[in-house]
Amino acid sequence: MNTESHFTALESEAHPRWDTDVLIIGSGAAGLRAALAASENADVTLITKTTLKESNTLYAQGGIAVAMNIDDTVELHVQDTCSAGCGLCDIDAVETMVAEGIPRVTELLDWGANFDWEGTLPRFTQEAAHSRRRIVHKGDATGRETTDVLIQRVLNTERIRTISNAFAIDMLTDSTAQSGNNSITCYGITAIVENQLVNIYAKATILATGGLGRLYPCTSNPEVATGDGFAAAWRAGCEMIDMEFVQFHPTTLYLDGAPSFLISEAVRGEGGRLINIRGERFMEKYHEKEELAPRDIVSRAIQNEMLLTDFPCVYLDITHKSAEFIQERFPTISNTTTHYGLDISIDLIPVRPGAHFMMGGVRTNTATETNLNGLFACGEVACTGVHGANRLASNSLLECLVFGVRAGENAAMYATSQESTLPPKIQIPRCDYIHLNDVNSEIFKDTVLAAKDVIRDTLWENVGIERDEEGLEFALTDLAEIATEMGLNPSTSMPTTSMNGQSTDIHLNETVNMLNVAWMITRASLIRTESRGGHYRADFPDQDDVSWNRRVIMKIGNEPEFVGLT
Ligand code: SIN
Repeated sequence: MNTESHFTALESEAHPRWDTDVLIIGSGAAGLRAALAASENADVTLITKTTLKESNTLYAQGGIAVAMNIDDTVELHVQDTCSAGCGLCDIDAVETMVAEGIPRVTELLDWGANFDWEGTLPRFTQEAAHSRRRIVHKGDATGRETTDVLIQRVLNTERIRTISNAFAIDMLTDSTAQSGNNSITCYGITAIVENQLVNIYAKATILATGGLGRLYPCTSNPEVATGDGFAAAWRAGCEMIDMEFVQFHPTTLYLDGAPSFLISEAVRGEGGRLINIRGERFMEKYHEKEELAPRDIVSRAIQNEMLLTDFPCVYLDITHKSAEFIQERFPTISNTTTHYGLDISIDLIPVRPGAHFMMGGVRTNTATETNLNGLFACGEVACTGVHGANRLASNSLLECLVFGVRAGENAAMYATSQESTLPPKIQIPRCDYIHLNDVNSEIFKDTVLAAKDVIRDTLWENVGIERDEEGLEFALTDLAEIATEMGLNPSTSMPTTSMNGQSTDIHLNETVNMLNVAWMITRASLIRTESRGGHYRADFPDQDDVSWNRRVIMKIGNEPEFVGLT
């Protein structure tokens, strides 16, 4: 499509200016599906941090949970989702996701998704905490298949323009946002494109930036998942909700020289067993469902066994299955482990837990609206409440498809009701600026890279699978010290610090984002003095339904506030 018809550069502004009807930030399943939906009624620009393919979706192995099997119902899927969510799911959002998931998956199949079949039905597999076999999949590469199908359609859609290597820094909001008025409007974003700052103005903006697993040293997430969307939304004045609920997947590969890589829960679904370094099976000590217990329980059990045996991992044993079965069912895992010298049809797989999924995020309703006019959010960065305190396996791609469509349709409708993208007086989010004299020096760049590791280590130690008050307070102090070392403002303003306009260095912007998001997760974890789902407080080990059947909402400029569940 012709660039000129889509964008206008205004030389009078500090940065080049581009315009579009609907701007989508992120190219995972949610962003791609939103783009397709929005393009039915509007011109769409989709920007993505690196390549169009790279996102958490690409690495999703398990599949898509959908109530399409002959013995399954929407009610059962809703029930399983809510029971995994430990009392904090928003029932309307869950019902929407499960019911609309059926047409969304059917449509994906119609578009050519080559999922595994058995006779006239998709081959449904089992995963933990599902009462039925309801996971449609393509071997262990469901995310890749889904991505390929959606990208193909996006590239064939004339009204969608895609821009790779575009790093979204901050939302463009109007001036009323800065003067304490509650009504904030989003007019797009400032981004780094080809090493230059660009203002991309949009009548409607959809945030679909994915997750934040890379805030932790062990994770199933790719390098791009540094939580940038959460940070930008927070700085722009979005309400953030459930930020204490990070899901740790029990089994990521732990092998010298190999990247931290997901070993799908489907391996346990197919009978894989966990054993410790002493060769003992241990899950029966922790839960009646053993290896198929909820993820938080399996993760804590593994962590405990690692502690008891003073060994940095446990093992997953799938050797009872034939080499042919493994190659057909788990080609991605099998090819990756073979690459590192491990034949999983005869060798045990060394595994340990890693950060996997963020249940919390930008608060949205089922129409994907945020508290900012013109800003919609979908996928992992958003929180409609579908996951509550813990996500059920394979509900994430389902969420992306369902709420991606809703975001695209609603954003396009909003955009067509707006006359222009020109705001009254644009402002970037409030920034507590800093003395950044040497941002381009080698020493400063080294400091920034080191800071990322320190953030990861402090979160893993203190805001990980188990937390307590002492560790959480320690983490807050640590984060403030990291900020000071980087020349950022001292502790009180650290959570709101933004780099907007000061540097086009991606690492620096990522590090600031990581600091913002790490602060939110830590602060929310400190507030919730109970254990529930993905949030386990060793000093408050029980679920407290009397005081805590409610959710933590945080917004910039306020002390974190609470609301009850409706
Ligand atoms: C997995 O394959 O274990 C991950 C699936 C999910 O997180 O839903």
